[in-house]
Amino acid sequence: MQIILKSKRFSKTIKIEKNENILFAGLRQGLKLPYSCASGTCGTCQAKAVDGNFLDSWPSAVAKKFVPDGSGRLLMCQTMCKSNSELQMIGPFGPNPEHVIVPDYFEGTLVEKKLLTEDVLTFNLSSKSHFRYQAGQFAMLQIPGIRGWRAYSMSNISTEKACTEFLIRKVPGGKVSDWIFSKWNAGDPLRFFGPLGNAILKPDEGDEHIFCICGGSGIAGIMAVIEDAITTGHLIHNKMEVFFGLRSEADNFFLDRLSSLITKAKGGLSVTIAYSEQEFLEEVQRDFPSLKVEFGLVHEVAFRRIENASSNKNTWFLAGPPIVVDLCEQKLLQEYNVCSSKIRLDRFG
Ligand SMILES: Cc1cc2nc3c(=O)[nH]c(=O)nc-3n(C[C@H](O)[C@H](O)[C@H](O)COP(=O)(O)OP(=O)(O)OC[C@H]3O[C@@H](n4cnc5c(N)ncnc54)[C@H](O)[C@@H]3O)c2cc1C
Ligand code: FES
Repeated sequence: MQIILKSKRFSKTIKIEKNENILFAGLRQGLKLPYSCASGTCGTCQAKAVDGNFLDSWPSAVAKKFVPDGSGRLLMCQTMCKSNSELQMIGPFGPNPEHVIVPDYFEGTLVEKKLLTEDVLTFNLSSKSHFRYQAGQFAMLQIPGIRGWRAYSMSNISTEKACTEFLIRKVPGGKVSDWIFSKWNAGDPLRFFGPLGNAILKPDEGDEHIFCICGGSGIAGIMAVIEDAITTGHLIHNKMEVFFGLRSEADNFFLDRLSSLITKAKGGLSVTIAYSEQEFLEEVQRDFPSLKVEFGLVHEVAFRRIENASSNKNTWFLAGPPIVVDLCEQKLLQEYNVCSSKIRLDRFG
Protein backbone atom coordinates (compact mmCIF):
# COMPACT_ATOMS: atom_id res chain seq x y z
CA MET A 1 0.00 0.00 0.00
CA GLN A 2 1.01 3.58 -0.36
CA ILE A 3 0.16 6.86 1.24
CA ILE A 4 0.56 10.40 -0.08
CA LEU A 5 1.71 12.95 2.50
CA LYS A 6 1.14 16.55 1.42
CA SER A 7 1.74 20.03 2.73
CA LYS A 8 1.56 23.36 0.88
CA ARG A 9 5.24 23.14 -0.05
CA PHE A 10 6.10 19.46 -0.22
CA SER A 11 4.53 16.16 -1.20
CA LYS A 12 5.82 12.61 -0.92
CA THR A 13 4.35 9.19 -1.64
CA ILE A 14 5.63 6.48 0.70
CA LYS A 15 5.07 2.76 1.08
CA ILE A 16 3.33 1.49 4.19
CA GLU A 17 3.14 -2.10 5.40
CA LYS A 18 -0.01 -3.72 6.75
CA ASN A 19 -0.03 -3.21 10.56
CA GLU A 20 2.56 -0.41 10.35
CA ASN A 21 1.74 3.01 11.75
CA ILE A 22 2.04 6.03 9.44
CA LEU A 23 4.67 7.74 11.61
CA PHE A 24 7.14 4.82 11.51
CA ALA A 25 6.53 4.31 7.77
CA GLY A 26 7.36 7.95 7.02
CA LEU A 27 10.35 8.16 9.36
CA ARG A 28 12.02 4.99 8.03
CA GLN A 29 11.66 6.38 4.49
CA GLY A 30 13.75 9.40 5.46
CA LEU A 31 11.05 11.98 6.17
CA LYS A 32 11.07 14.66 8.81
CA LEU A 33 7.66 14.38 10.49
CA PRO A 34 6.14 16.03 13.55
CA TYR A 35 6.24 13.79 16.65
CA SER A 36 7.44 13.79 20.23
CA CYS A 37 6.38 10.70 22.25
CA ALA A 38 5.63 8.34 19.31
CA SER A 39 3.34 6.56 21.77
CA GLY A 40 -0.06 8.27 21.70
CA THR A 41 0.22 10.72 24.57
CA CYS A 42 1.43 14.12 23.29
CA GLY A 43 -0.70 14.93 20.21
CA THR A 44 2.23 16.33 18.17
CA CYS A 45 1.82 13.90 15.26
CA GLN A 46 -1.63 15.05 14.11
CA ALA A 47 -2.40 15.09 10.39
CA LYS A 48 -5.64 15.51 8.46
CA ALA A 49 -7.14 12.51 6.64
CA VAL A 50 -7.94 13.50 3.04
CA ASP A 51 -8.62 10.14 1.42
CA GLY A 52 -8.47 6.41 2.26
CA ASN A 53 -9.45 3.92 4.95
CA PHE A 54 -7.63 4.03 8.26
CA LEU A 55 -7.37 1.81 11.32
CA ASP A 56 -7.06 3.53 14.68
CA SER A 57 -4.97 1.14 16.79
CA TRP A 58 -5.68 2.94 20.08
CA PRO A 59 -9.09 4.70 19.94
CA SER A 60 -8.82 5.86 23.58
CA ALA A 61 -5.27 7.24 23.23
CA VAL A 62 -4.45 9.91 25.83
CA ALA A 63 -3.53 12.37 23.05
CA LYS A 64 -7.07 12.27 21.60
CA LYS A 65 -7.86 15.16 23.96
CA PHE A 66 -5.60 17.36 21.80
CA VAL A 67 -7.41 16.48 18.55
CA PRO A 68 -10.14 19.08 17.83
CA ASP A 69 -13.63 17.54 17.45
CA GLY A 70 -14.76 17.22 13.85
CA SER A 71 -11.32 18.22 12.50
CA GLY A 72 -10.84 14.95 10.58
CA ARG A 73 -7.39 14.68 12.12
CA LEU A 74 -5.69 11.46 13.22
CA LEU A 75 -2.58 10.60 15.24
CA MET A 76 0.04 9.26 12.84
CA CYS A 77 1.74 7.23 15.59
CA GLN A 78 -1.49 5.30 16.29
CA THR A 79 -2.95 4.97 12.78
CA MET A 80 -2.51 2.30 10.15
CA CYS A 81 -3.84 2.24 6.57
CA LYS A 82 -6.39 -0.23 5.17
CA SER A 83 -6.11 1.16 1.61
CA ASN A 84 -4.03 3.61 -0.41
CA SER A 85 -4.51 6.93 1.40
CA GLU A 86 -3.73 10.63 1.48
CA LEU A 87 -2.94 12.95 4.39
CA GLN A 88 -2.62 16.72 4.72
CA MET A 89 0.34 17.42 7.01
CA ILE A 90 0.06 19.96 9.83
CA GLY A 91 3.41 20.15 11.64
CA PRO A 92 6.99 20.33 10.22
CA PHE A 93 7.34 18.04 7.20
CA GLY A 94 9.97 17.49 4.51
CA PRO A 95 13.10 15.48 3.75
CA ASN A 96 15.46 14.92 6.68
CA PRO A 97 18.77 16.82 6.81
CA GLU A 98 21.60 14.47 5.78
CA HIS A 99 23.15 14.04 9.24
CA VAL A 100 19.97 12.53 10.71
CA ILE A 101 20.16 8.77 11.36
CA VAL A 102 17.15 7.26 9.59
CA PRO A 103 15.25 4.98 11.99
CA ASP A 104 14.35 1.40 11.14
CA TYR A 105 13.15 -1.88 12.67
CA PHE A 106 15.71 -4.02 14.53
CA GLU A 107 15.62 -7.54 15.93
CA GLY A 108 17.20 -7.52 19.38
CA THR A 109 18.05 -10.13 22.00
CA LEU A 110 18.10 -9.55 25.73
CA VAL A 111 21.66 -10.05 26.95
CA GLU A 112 21.38 -9.02 30.58
CA LYS A 113 18.99 -7.50 33.12
CA LYS A 114 20.39 -5.82 36.24
CA LEU A 115 18.16 -4.84 39.14
CA LEU A 116 19.36 -1.48 40.57
CA THR A 117 16.58 -0.87 43.13
CA GLU A 118 13.25 -2.52 43.89
CA ASP A 119 11.64 -0.80 40.91
CA VAL A 120 14.49 0.23 38.59
CA LEU A 121 16.58 -1.98 36.32
CA THR A 122 18.87 -1.69 33.33
CA PHE A 123 18.74 -4.10 30.43
CA ASN A 124 21.14 -4.64 27.57
CA LEU A 125 20.06 -5.52 24.07
CA SER A 126 22.21 -6.88 21.30
CA SER A 127 21.07 -6.63 17.69
CA LYS A 128 22.16 -8.43 14.53
CA SER A 129 23.00 -5.17 12.76
CA HIS A 130 24.65 -2.26 14.58
CA PHE A 131 21.98 0.00 16.09
CA ARG A 132 23.37 3.51 15.52
CA TYR A 133 21.92 6.44 17.44
CA GLN A 134 22.84 9.78 18.96
CA ALA A 135 23.16 10.14 22.73
CA GLY A 136 19.84 11.35 24.14
CA GLN A 137 17.67 9.50 21.62
CA PHE A 138 15.15 6.77 22.35
CA ALA A 139 13.80 3.58 20.76
CA MET A 140 10.31 2.10 20.58
CA LEU A 141 9.98 -1.45 21.96
CA GLN A 142 7.31 -3.90 20.87
CA ILE A 143 6.37 -6.65 23.29
CA PRO A 144 4.61 -9.76 21.95
CA GLY A 145 0.97 -9.83 23.07
CA ILE A 146 0.93 -6.22 24.36
CA ARG A 147 -0.73 -3.53 22.22
CA GLY A 148 1.26 -0.47 21.18
CA TRP A 149 4.93 0.41 21.28
CA ARG A 150 6.71 1.91 24.31
CA ALA A 151 9.51 4.48 24.28
CA TYR A 152 12.77 3.92 26.19
CA SER A 153 15.87 6.14 26.10
CA MET A 154 19.26 4.58 25.48
CA SER A 155 21.43 5.14 28.56
CA ASN A 156 24.84 4.51 26.99
CA ILE A 157 26.46 5.84 23.83
CA SER A 158 26.26 3.92 20.58
CA THR A 159 29.37 1.91 19.72
CA GLU A 160 29.78 -1.16 17.52
CA LYS A 161 31.23 -3.20 20.38
CA ALA A 162 28.82 -2.50 23.23
CA CYS A 163 25.22 -3.66 23.61
CA THR A 164 22.57 -0.97 23.82
CA GLU A 165 21.65 -0.21 27.42
CA PHE A 166 18.22 0.94 28.63
CA LEU A 167 17.00 1.91 32.08
CA ILE A 168 13.42 1.21 33.12
CA ARG A 169 11.30 2.04 36.11
CA LYS A 170 8.47 -0.31 37.03
CA VAL A 171 5.14 1.50 36.71
CA PRO A 172 2.42 0.12 39.03
CA GLY A 173 -0.04 -1.72 36.76
CA GLY A 174 2.11 -0.91 33.71
CA LYS A 175 1.96 -3.67 31.10
CA VAL A 176 5.37 -3.40 29.44
CA SER A 177 7.41 -2.45 32.50
CA ASP A 178 5.85 -5.37 34.38
CA TRP A 179 6.63 -7.73 31.47
CA ILE A 180 10.25 -6.56 31.36
CA PHE A 181 10.67 -6.99 35.12
CA SER A 182 8.97 -10.34 35.54
CA LYS A 183 8.66 -12.24 32.26
CA TRP A 184 11.60 -11.33 30.06
CA ASN A 185 14.68 -13.57 30.24
CA ALA A 186 18.21 -13.45 28.80
CA GLY A 187 18.23 -14.82 25.24
CA ASP A 188 14.63 -13.76 24.52
CA PRO A 189 14.08 -11.77 21.31
CA LEU A 190 12.51 -8.33 21.03
CA ARG A 191 11.65 -6.08 18.09
CA PHE A 192 12.42 -2.40 18.31
CA PHE A 193 12.27 0.72 16.14
CA GLY A 194 14.62 3.68 16.29
CA PRO A 195 16.45 5.85 16.84
CA LEU A 196 13.97 8.64 17.55
CA GLY A 197 14.04 11.98 19.32
CA ASN A 198 15.90 15.22 19.17
CA ALA A 199 17.11 15.71 22.74
CA ILE A 200 20.75 15.50 21.66
CA LEU A 201 23.84 17.65 22.00
CA LYS A 202 24.29 20.16 19.18
CA PRO A 203 27.81 21.54 19.57
CA ASP A 204 27.52 23.52 16.32
CA GLU A 205 24.64 25.46 17.90
CA GLY A 206 26.74 26.44 20.92
CA ASP A 207 25.64 24.31 23.87
CA GLU A 208 28.12 26.18 26.07
CA HIS A 209 26.39 25.79 29.39
CA ILE A 210 24.20 22.71 29.57
CA PHE A 211 21.67 22.18 32.34
CA CYS A 212 19.95 18.80 32.72
CA ILE A 213 16.96 18.47 35.04
CA CYS A 214 15.49 14.99 35.37
CA GLY A 215 13.50 12.81 37.73
CA GLY A 216 13.89 9.04 38.30
CA SER A 217 14.28 7.09 35.07
CA GLY A 218 14.58 10.44 33.22
CA ILE A 219 18.31 10.12 33.94
CA ALA A 220 18.53 7.39 31.23
CA GLY A 221 19.06 9.59 28.17
CA ILE A 222 20.98 12.15 30.26
CA MET A 223 23.58 9.45 31.12
CA ALA A 224 24.22 9.00 27.41
CA VAL A 225 24.37 12.77 26.84
CA ILE A 226 26.95 13.16 29.65
CA GLU A 227 29.03 10.25 28.32
CA ASP A 228 28.87 11.73 24.82
CA ALA A 229 29.89 15.21 26.01
CA ILE A 230 32.91 13.74 27.83
CA THR A 231 33.96 11.34 25.05
CA THR A 232 33.81 14.00 22.35
CA GLY A 233 35.74 16.53 24.47
CA HIS A 234 32.77 18.92 24.55
CA LEU A 235 33.22 19.47 28.30
CA ILE A 236 36.82 20.62 27.95
CA HIS A 237 35.57 24.11 27.09
CA ASN A 238 31.92 23.88 28.12
CA LYS A 239 30.06 23.07 31.33
CA MET A 240 27.29 20.69 32.27
CA GLU A 241 25.20 20.80 35.44
CA VAL A 242 22.90 17.86 36.18
CA PHE A 243 20.03 17.90 38.70
CA PHE A 244 18.77 14.36 39.35
CA GLY A 245 15.61 13.89 41.43
CA LEU A 246 15.07 10.82 43.60
CA ARG A 247 12.57 10.19 46.38
CA SER A 248 14.83 8.75 49.07
CA GLU A 249 17.99 6.79 49.70
CA ALA A 250 16.14 3.55 48.89
CA ASP A 251 15.87 4.81 45.30
CA ASN A 252 19.60 5.44 44.85
CA PHE A 253 21.00 4.21 41.55
CA PHE A 254 23.73 5.33 39.14
CA LEU A 255 25.43 7.38 41.90
CA ASP A 256 28.68 5.43 41.38
CA ARG A 257 28.49 5.93 37.62
CA LEU A 258 27.77 9.65 38.00
CA SER A 259 30.71 10.01 40.40
CA SER A 260 33.09 8.41 37.94
CA LEU A 261 31.77 10.61 35.11
CA ILE A 262 32.48 13.67 37.28
CA THR A 263 36.09 12.48 37.64
CA LYS A 264 36.40 11.87 33.90
CA ALA A 265 34.97 15.30 33.06
CA LYS A 266 37.82 17.01 34.97
CA GLY A 267 35.79 19.94 36.22
CA GLY A 268 33.32 20.14 33.33
CA LEU A 269 30.48 18.33 35.12
CA SER A 270 28.61 18.86 38.38
CA VAL A 271 25.79 16.65 39.65
CA THR A 272 23.24 17.48 42.35
CA ILE A 273 20.98 14.74 43.72
CA ALA A 274 17.69 16.21 44.94
CA TYR A 275 15.85 13.99 47.43
CA SER A 276 12.19 14.84 47.74
CA GLU A 277 11.31 12.66 50.75
CA GLN A 278 14.44 12.29 52.85
CA GLU A 279 16.54 15.03 54.34
CA PHE A 280 19.36 13.40 56.30
CA LEU A 281 21.73 11.80 53.83
CA GLU A 282 25.13 11.81 55.44
CA GLU A 283 25.98 8.39 53.95
CA VAL A 284 25.51 9.56 50.38
CA GLN A 285 27.82 12.52 51.00
CA ARG A 286 30.39 10.20 52.59
CA ASP A 287 30.25 7.49 49.89
CA PHE A 288 30.03 9.85 46.91
CA PRO A 289 31.81 13.06 47.97
CA SER A 290 31.84 14.55 44.46
CA LEU A 291 28.01 14.60 44.32
CA LYS A 292 26.11 17.52 45.80
CA VAL A 293 23.09 16.50 47.85
CA GLU A 294 20.00 18.67 48.44
CA PHE A 295 16.51 18.24 49.85
CA GLY A 296 13.44 19.16 47.79
CA LEU A 297 11.68 18.59 44.48
CA VAL A 298 14.23 18.48 41.69
CA HIS A 299 12.89 21.45 39.73
CA GLU A 300 12.76 23.59 42.86
CA VAL A 301 16.31 22.64 43.83
CA ALA A 302 17.55 23.30 40.29
CA PHE A 303 16.03 26.76 39.96
CA ARG A 304 17.19 27.66 43.48
CA ARG A 305 20.78 26.81 42.48
CA ILE A 306 20.97 27.98 38.86
CA GLU A 307 22.13 31.54 38.46
CA ASN A 308 21.53 33.38 35.24
CA ALA A 309 18.89 30.95 33.92
CA SER A 310 17.89 33.40 31.18
CA SER A 311 21.36 33.52 29.56
CA ASN A 312 21.20 32.65 25.86
CA LYS A 313 24.36 30.55 26.33
CA ASN A 314 22.31 27.96 28.23
CA THR A 315 20.89 24.78 26.76
CA TRP A 316 18.32 22.79 28.72
CA PHE A 317 17.69 19.04 28.82
CA LEU A 318 14.50 18.02 30.64
CA ALA A 319 13.48 14.38 31.05
CA GLY A 320 11.26 12.12 33.11
CA PRO A 321 7.79 12.36 34.67
CA PRO A 322 5.52 14.84 32.83
CA ILE A 323 5.03 16.92 35.99
CA VAL A 324 8.79 17.65 36.29
CA VAL A 325 9.22 18.35 32.58
CA ASP A 326 6.11 20.55 32.32
CA LEU A 327 6.94 22.67 35.38
CA CYS A 328 10.51 23.26 34.19
CA GLU A 329 9.46 24.03 30.63
CA GLN A 330 6.81 26.50 31.78
CA LYS A 331 9.24 28.26 34.08
CA LEU A 332 11.92 28.52 31.40
CA LEU A 333 9.55 29.84 28.74
CA GLN A 334 7.44 32.16 30.87
CA GLU A 335 9.72 33.36 33.65
CA TYR A 336 13.14 33.30 32.00
CA ASN A 337 12.07 33.93 28.37
CA VAL A 338 14.21 31.03 27.17
CA CYS A 339 13.86 30.35 23.45
CA SER A 340 12.10 26.99 22.87
CA SER A 341 14.93 25.87 20.55
CA LYS A 342 17.21 25.87 23.63
CA ILE A 343 14.99 23.34 25.42
CA ARG A 344 15.35 19.64 24.54
CA LEU A 345 12.94 17.41 26.34
CA ASP A 346 11.53 13.92 26.72
CA ARG A 347 8.23 13.78 28.60
CA PHE A 348 7.83 10.18 29.81
CA GLY A 349 4.06 9.94 29.39
C1 LIG B 1 10.27 9.80 24.72
C2 LIG B 1 10.05 8.86 25.90
C3 LIG B 1 11.13 8.25 26.51
C4 LIG B 1 10.93 7.39 27.59
N1 LIG B 1 12.03 6.83 28.18
C5 LIG B 1 11.85 6.02 29.27
C6 LIG B 1 12.98 5.44 29.93
O1 LIG B 1 14.13 5.62 29.50
N2 LIG B 1 12.74 4.66 31.02
C7 LIG B 1 11.46 4.44 31.50
O2 LIG B 1 11.30 3.73 32.50
N3 LIG B 1 10.38 4.97 30.88
C8 LIG B 1 10.53 5.73 29.77
N4 LIG B 1 9.43 6.25 29.14
C9 LIG B 1 8.08 5.81 29.59
C10 LIG B 1 7.73 4.46 28.91
O3 LIG B 1 7.62 4.63 27.51
C11 LIG B 1 6.40 3.85 29.37
O4 LIG B 1 5.37 4.81 29.28
C12 LIG B 1 6.48 3.32 30.79
O5 LIG B 1 7.49 2.32 30.91
C13 LIG B 1 5.14 2.66 31.18
O6 LIG B 1 4.82 1.64 30.27
P1 LIG B 1 3.92 0.41 30.73
O7 LIG B 1 3.56 -0.41 29.55
O8 LIG B 1 4.55 -0.28 31.88
O9 LIG B 1 2.61 1.17 31.30
P2 LIG B 1 1.17 1.24 30.62
O10 LIG B 1 0.38 2.10 31.56
O11 LIG B 1 0.63 -0.11 30.29
O12 LIG B 1 1.41 2.04 29.26
C14 LIG B 1 1.95 3.33 29.26
C15 LIG B 1 2.01 3.93 27.89
O13 LIG B 1 1.92 2.96 26.85
C16 LIG B 1 1.17 3.45 25.76
N5 LIG B 1 -0.06 2.62 25.59
C17 LIG B 1 -0.83 2.11 26.55
N6 LIG B 1 -1.83 1.36 26.01
C18 LIG B 1 -1.67 1.41 24.66
C19 LIG B 1 -2.38 0.85 23.55
N7 LIG B 1 -3.45 0.07 23.70
N8 LIG B 1 -1.92 1.13 22.32
C20 LIG B 1 -0.85 1.91 22.14
N9 LIG B 1 -0.14 2.47 23.16
C21 LIG B 1 -0.54 2.22 24.40
C22 LIG B 1 0.89 4.85 26.10
O14 LIG B 1 1.90 5.66 25.59
C23 LIG B 1 0.88 4.86 27.60
O15 LIG B 1 1.15 6.12 28.16
C24 LIG B 1 9.61 7.12 28.07
C25 LIG B 1 8.52 7.72 27.43
C26 LIG B 1 8.71 8.58 26.37
C27 LIG B 1 7.51 9.20 25.70
S1 FES C 1 3.84 11.53 18.66
FE1 FES C 1 1.82 10.74 18.33
S2 FES C 1 0.80 11.33 20.14
FE2 FES C 1 2.87 11.88 20.56
